Amino acid sequence: MFSFLNKDQTTGEVEERQLDETNIPAHVAIIMDGNGRWAQQRHLPRIAGHKQGMNTVKTVAMAASNLGVKVLTLYAFSTENWKRPSAEVNYLMKLPVDFFGTFVPDLVKNNIRVKVMGYTDQLPAATQKAVNDAIADTKDCTGMVLNFALNYGGRAEIVTAVQKLAEQVQTGQLTATDIDDDAIDRELMTADLGELRDPDLLIRTSGEERLSNFMLWQVAYSEFVFTQQHWPDFDQTALEQAIYEYQQRHRRFGGLATDNTK
Ligand code: IPE
Ligand code: IPE
Ligand code: MG
Repeated sequence: MFSFLNKDQTTGEVEERQLDETNIPAHVAIIMDGNGRWAQQRHLPRIAGHKQGMNTVKTVAMAASNLGVKVLTLYAFSTENWKRPSAEVNYLMKLPVDFFGTFVPDLVKNNIRVKVMGYTDQLPAATQKAVNDAIADTKDCTGMVLNFALNYGGRAEIVTAVQKLAEQVQTGQLTATDIDDDAIDRELMTADLGELRDPDLLIRTSGEERLSNFMLWQVAYSEFVFTQQHWPDFDQTALEQAIYEYQQRHRRFGGLATDNTK
């Protein structure tokens, strides 16, 4: 049993809660939102929020790994985030260089393997190098997969998959009727995660309740938890609270719960 101190976000009441170790979500995905607002509240430039958010990534990656999460997917930069001012985009592109530059030894020590999904060929050369080095340096780790969605968009991912399937039909490797759920899964950026490809739990911080083009196919049956904290304020307890909430849900996948009152 993992126990943690839950703090009620409205009443401030603290109580000890237990997590069920046998029901830890295997794949947790997080839309890390609210860095800018965290900074603005402190009269700091937005990039100060991104910097603090990077530290939260370290804390949460360790916490998830210790809880037994198998895949932690973090939405770090969307295909739409290029619309932001270039100074902010440049800063965000430098963060992986800082992050991996300092954190890879800890990742290796904790047996955490880095994966990246997204259109990485469009990233600046230094960012690509940081990402590729981190993947190479952690390739033999067999514990949690830390999966960064970097220049990722759910629609673009589906478009690319459809294009690949169309090419396979054109070259006669596939017929149109061969295209099923499995065929699409095989062409998505989560294909190498196998059975762990779909998030069990999706968390979005900072109060927004939307997907913003994140893992549109894979979240078909994910449980969603929205938290009020801005990402830089998210921590181990917040992750445990979200997992606790997940453990109170009854996943039915379109069927019926074994106890049909739920
Ligand atoms: C999330 O924080 C980080 C990225 C999207 C890169 P934001 O930068 O979106 O912060 P807010 O939503 O403006 O507060
Ligand atoms: C989603 O957050 C993208 C990431 C967290 C990387 P945004 O802040 O870009 O989303 P919107 O614009 O509020 O929908
Ligand atoms: Mg945002």
